[in-house]
Amino acid sequence: MQKLHSDKRQSNKLPIPSIGVALVLLLNFASTTSSCTEQERSSLLRFLSELSRDGGLATSWQDSTDCCQWEGITCSQDRTVTDVSLTSRSIQGQISPSLGSLTGLLRLNLSHNLLSGALPQELMSSSSIIVIDVSFNRLNGDLHELPSSTPARPLQVLNISSNLFTGQFPSSIWGVMKNLVALNASNNSFTGHIPSNFCTNSPSFAVLELSYNQFSGSIPTGLGNCSMLRVLMAGHNNLSGTLPDELFNATALEHLSFADNNLQGTLEGENVVKLSKLATLDLGDNNFSCEIPHSICQLKRLKELHLNNNKMYGSVPSTLANCTSLIIVDLKSNNFSGDLTNVNFSNLPNLKTLDLLRNNFSGKFPESIYSCSSLTALRLSSNKFHGQLSKGLGNMKSLSFLSLTDNSFTNIANALQILRSSNNLTTLLMGHNFLNERMPDDDSINGFENLQVLSLSGCWLSGKIPRWLPKLSSLEMLFLQSNQLTGPIPDWISSLHFLFYLDISNNSLMGEIPTALVQMPMLTSEKVAAQWDHRAFDLPIYRYLSFQYRMVSAFPKVLNLGNNELTGLIPPEIGQLKALLSLNLSFNELSGDIPQSICNLTDLLLLDLSSNKLTGTIPSSLNNLKFMSQFNISYNDLEGTVPDGGQISTFLSTSFDGNPRLCGPMLARHCGSAETPIVSTKQTNDKDVSPLAFMIPFGAFFGLGVLYDQIVLSRFF
Ligand SMILES: *[C@@H]1O[C@H](CO)[C@@H](O)[C@H](O)[C@H]1NC(C)=O
Ligand SMILES: *[C@@H]1O[C@H](CO)[C@@H](O)[C@H](O)[C@H]1NC(C)=O
Ligand SMILES: *[C@@H]1O[C@H](CO)[C@@H](O)[C@H](O)[C@H]1NC(C)=O
Ligand SMILES: *[C@@H]1O[C@H](CO)[C@@H](O)[C@H](O)[C@H]1NC(C)=O
Ligand SMILES: *[C@@H]1O[C@H](CO)[C@@H](O)[C@H](O)[C@H]1NC(C)=O
Ligand SMILES: *[C@@H]1O[C@H](CO)[C@@H](O)[C@H](O)[C@H]1NC(C)=O
Ligand SMILES: *[C@@H]1O[C@H](CO)[C@@H](O)[C@H](O)[C@H]1NC(C)=O
Ligand SMILES: *[C@@H]1O[C@H](CO)[C@@H](O)[C@H](O)[C@H]1NC(C)=O
Ligand SMILES: *[C@@H]1O[C@H](CO)[C@@H](O)[C@H](O)[C@H]1NC(C)=O
Ligand SMILES: *[C@@H]1O[C@H](CO)[C@@H](O)[C@H](O)[C@H]1NC(C)=O
Ligand SMILES: *[C@@H]1O[C@H](CO)[C@@H](O)[C@H](O)[C@H]1NC(C)=O
Repeated sequence: MQKLHSDKRQSNKLPIPSIGVALVLLLNFASTTSSCTEQERSSLLRFLSELSRDGGLATSWQDSTDCCQWEGITCSQDRTVTDVSLTSRSIQGQISPSLGSLTGLLRLNLSHNLLSGALPQELMSSSSIIVIDVSFNRLNGDLHELPSSTPARPLQVLNISSNLFTGQFPSSIWGVMKNLVALNASNNSFTGHIPSNFCTNSPSFAVLELSYNQFSGSIPTGLGNCSMLRVLMAGHNNLSGTLPDELFNATALEHLSFADNNLQGTLEGENVVKLSKLATLDLGDNNFSCEIPHSICQLKRLKELHLNNNKMYGSVPSTLANCTSLIIVDLKSNNFSGDLTNVNFSNLPNLKTLDLLRNNFSGKFPESIYSCSSLTALRLSSNKFHGQLSKGLGNMKSLSFLSLTDNSFTNIANALQILRSSNNLTTLLMGHNFLNERMPDDDSINGFENLQVLSLSGCWLSGKIPRWLPKLSSLEMLFLQSNQLTGPIPDWISSLHFLFYLDISNNSLMGEIPTALVQMPMLTSEKVAAQWDHRAFDLPIYRYLSFQYRMVSAFPKVLNLGNNELTGLIPPEIGQLKALLSLNLSFNELSGDIPQSICNLTDLLLLDLSSNKLTGTIPSSLNNLKFMSQFNISYNDLEGTVPDGGQISTFLSTSFDGNPRLCGPMLARHCGSAETPIVSTKQTNDKDVSPLAFMIPFGAFFGLGVLYDQIVLSRFF
């Protein structure tokens, strides 16, 4: 019965008339040799026996049954095994060379398993296999050359990507692969030069993917002979030198990527235009030093242009607007200058991302961008743009990420009125603009329904924390630091249900810390807002040059009220902010005791209460804050003993300085009688070990985090 079934299935695939089916059935019934050969069965069983975990294959691969019926095996009509396809089955162990003796095998796909050891030579040199895919395993060792006497091999597709292969990449082997179409060796640790002979013998060679390895040396000129090459990817290696002229003879190229290497030199206009089929050009993270060639306009199919993080300069040629298929333009971190009004963006209806971060652009906001109705992410940060935003910006209904940080834009009231109707806006970063203007406190500002991240830091704005903020009901992160805002922290702050990052430091806020603040829902519980979870920013947000955030949820839960004029007590209810990772109340006028309840904030990594007027003793249960890596209570009027033998006593004297009545082993003033210091020193030494062990990794994560936020984060958004 089983056999009949399978024959039916087979016949469905092939256009055999039903009389033919009947015939085949009859023949099969009559013949006893209609299964795979004994040799094939034993080769497969040998493969099975060399697996240390077979992912349940053994139940299907029974010696007594026809191996054409086995799971993952496909046979041709004449019962020869043609396909072995065992993907994503968690199989472990070595790949047996016995697969090489399946004389009719065409396709072998073992991707997404846990196979280790070498890729057997017998597979590469097989005289039948046309497709090998062993990607996403743990195969290791070198890839060996084949003897030069080997006759031409039929292999067309070889995917060995995402394994642990090492060593020099073989070169002579490709000479015998006369049928090779695609070679994918990305994400291994191959070293040495990229071979140049891929196309000398393989006229159909179309895909070469070598990214994420350690290839060095220059780009081989021989690749220019690859007249069928469509995809060339060698990003994230150590390649050096220039783009060879010969490369541009490969005129079938659609995807060219050398991102993140050490390439230098120029991108010549006369070369680029030869690649008229190019859809993706990625030369980011290199040392190219040139202008964007004017002839780029002739690449009508260009969809993605990545030239970020180079040393390119000059203005963007107006002809860029002729690349009407463009979707992504990434020019960030170069030295481009000039204004953009010469580029008519109206001709780029598909443009979704334009990133100009950290260049030297000047002039007004390029108005023609307003007609890019598909634009979702626009970043002009850290340039020299000036002037006001104009109404058209409100028409960009797809816009989700807008960063204007660190330019010289003016008229914040106007900017907010225009942007409020951009319903899809989720991230709006406008810090370091609008210098010395007044924070609009206008009831007519509404909208921003989906806004999750708002930054207006470093604008030196006067006025108050504005009344329209509670209307931003999706807000999760608010950066208002380094302005000149006065007045109290408003009670409505706790009505922002999703707010988990609040930085209002370095203003002139007055009054007491409102109890509403210590009831902020996202900070009082571990709960994670639904949309807060895994949403990625449309563009990564940079903390400094190399550090980036890709997701909102990567930010810690933070409350920073430092450097204001807050008075009164630290409310004892502060102990409710259990989810808080960083609390900074420094440089205020807070008085009274450090509330005992602060010791409930057991997730805290940073606590800064320095430069206030706090009195009383240090609660000994602060030692419960086991993860704390930055702690500062200096310059208050605290007294008594620094609690011994726990996390607190591991901090240096700088954390306690400026409290003349405080004593402890790390301070100039030791406590009590002659014998006390000896005891406490011993105790600290004993207990030092475990808290310090905690301190280092968390410090590394967090010290970078909050410390640089105000300075760098706000500048480079
Ligand atoms: C191998 O199988 C995986 C998973 O089914 C598939 O994604 C991949 O394209 C296959 N490889 C080849 C070369 O067809
Ligand atoms: C391996 O690479 C080949 C050729 O580039 C491709 O066809 C195949 O889909 C890739 N396999 C997986 C699992 O992605
Ligand atoms: C290379 O293989 C990987 C899987 O390891 C796949 O994701 C990628 O798309 C392949 N590249 C090409 C150009 O086919
Ligand atoms: C590289 O390979 C590792 C291990 O197989 C895998 O976890 C990772 O996702 C791969 N990276 C890429 C960019 O494919
Ligand atoms: C390939 O490039 C070289 C150097 O740019 C050039 O001299 C040669 O004529 C080109 N060959 C073809 C076939 O286009
Ligand atoms: C940027 O380009 C200008 C000329 O446009 C030049 O004066 C300046 O030195 C360049 N800066 C850097 C960092 O290369
Ligand atoms: C920009 O292009 C649009 C559409 O092609 C056209 O209508 C408009 O006149 C152009 N603007 C300028 C200033 O050339
Ligand atoms: C910006 O361009 C001006 C001249 O246009 C140049 O003097 C200045 O050095 C450039 N700035 C940077 C950071 O390269
Ligand atoms: C606004 O965003 C939503 C959700 O991301 C999306 O489905 C919708 O198409 C966007 N609207 C526009 C006009 O792009
Ligand atoms: C505090 O804000 C002022 C502007 O109001 C700014 O000049 C100063 O650099 C800021 N200080 C810090 C430490 O960010
Ligand atoms: C706390 O905030 C103050 C004022 O903004 C700042 O100077 C200080 O560095 C912050 N403390 C820590 C540990 O980051």
